[in-house]
Amino acid sequence: MPADSILELPLDSKWKQSFRQRLRRWYGKHRRELPWRKTRDPYAVWVSEIMLQQTQVETVRPYFERFMAAFPTVTALAEVKQEEVLRLWEGLGYYRRARQMHDAARKIAVELDGVFPQTVASLQQLPGVGRYTAGAIVSIAFDQPAPILEANTIRLLSRVLGYRKDPTKTPGQKLLWEMAGEILPRKNVADFNQALMELGSLVCRPGSPICDDCPIQTQCAACQAGLQSKIPVPKRKKPLTDLHEAAVVVTKNKSVLLRQCAEGERWAGLWDFPRFEMEATLKDPSSVFSNRPPSTDSEIDHVVHDEIVEKVHALTGITCLPGTLLQTIKHGVTRYRITLDCYTAQYALGRIRPRAAKPVRWTPVGELGNYALSTTGRKIARSIAIREKDAP
Ligand code: ADE
Repeated sequence: MPADSILELPLDSKWKQSFRQRLRRWYGKHRRELPWRKTRDPYAVWVSEIMLQQTQVETVRPYFERFMAAFPTVTALAEVKQEEVLRLWEGLGYYRRARQMHDAARKIAVELDGVFPQTVASLQQLPGVGRYTAGAIVSIAFDQPAPILEANTIRLLSRVLGYRKDPTKTPGQKLLWEMAGEILPRKNVADFNQALMELGSLVCRPGSPICDDCPIQTQCAACQAGLQSKIPVPKRKKPLTDLHEAAVVVTKNKSVLLRQCAEGERWAGLWDFPRFEMEATLKDPSSVFSNRPPSTDSEIDHVVHDEIVEKVHALTGITCLPGTLLQTIKHGVTRYRITLDCYTAQYALGRIRPRAAKPVRWTPVGELGNYALSTTGRKIARSIAIREKDAP
């Protein structure tokens, strides 16, 4: 049976020296000027690394700059409300990262007198800080020899080793962490780790690695064996589940009803129009709710109508009168493929239920910009703004 990887650990010291030298030279010529590379402030490094998880460099750049301008220190971040943090995070996705970062900032401010932890072990005590983020902070901010392993380096090191199994599973992770530790230089660890990520990001790309531009081409087992498009082996994708949901823009004068998503819900902590899963589906979307009893041939619309009234009431305490279909948004979240029908509705009667698990608020349309909205909530808010502008 062939070994799981073409190269085996431990690596020869000449091999490692050559690898480091080639990588260092390449990074000197090709490194991008990124805002978080202008500083060694552990707080800034932390913010950038959290944002860079599951998100592209170019997407992160403006978010990072806005975030650092608004919350320049860990204590500044600790002092603001979670909602302010989410507002600046809006659009970046994976909002748990922002909530955990805010919790961690409070922990540093309160329990550690605002002093940033400096070791991998102490950093890993913070919410949302795993082995990778801790290693990145220690190596980049303090130039201490801590290995890192994230999406770019998983791909790069899998190819260099010629690792044929799934590198995200336990044996693969164990091997790659070991390799990341072995190749680490004693000095200039900050540049070395960033160079690894940069090479992974710019050259050793997922679908089409540019091996001809790679400084370590001759040391890469996958490239030498012509296996660079087969390594790393693709992750098996979980099948997607279809979901049908509705969001309702309930209007009262010039305000709309917003609800803050509760812990455990999708978009927890963000605001959204009342949104829920639908059992009934529209038969004929062009003929929805003209605010009169449905005719016999649109019985399903009647069912949709009733379901909306009932579910908005259950979530908010408000009884509404559904109007028309504003738009349908198709989007994907984790393993769900969602069709979201967005309806208009008028306030009919009732009061916002006190002591709801999460706040519900009548919000003036002109103030929607101050709220951290879910991605679809923001799309709907834009549609409302356009409608208002076009209204006679
Ligand atoms: N991906 C994750 N961290 C990164 C960094 N510091 N530079 C570039 N890409 C990254």
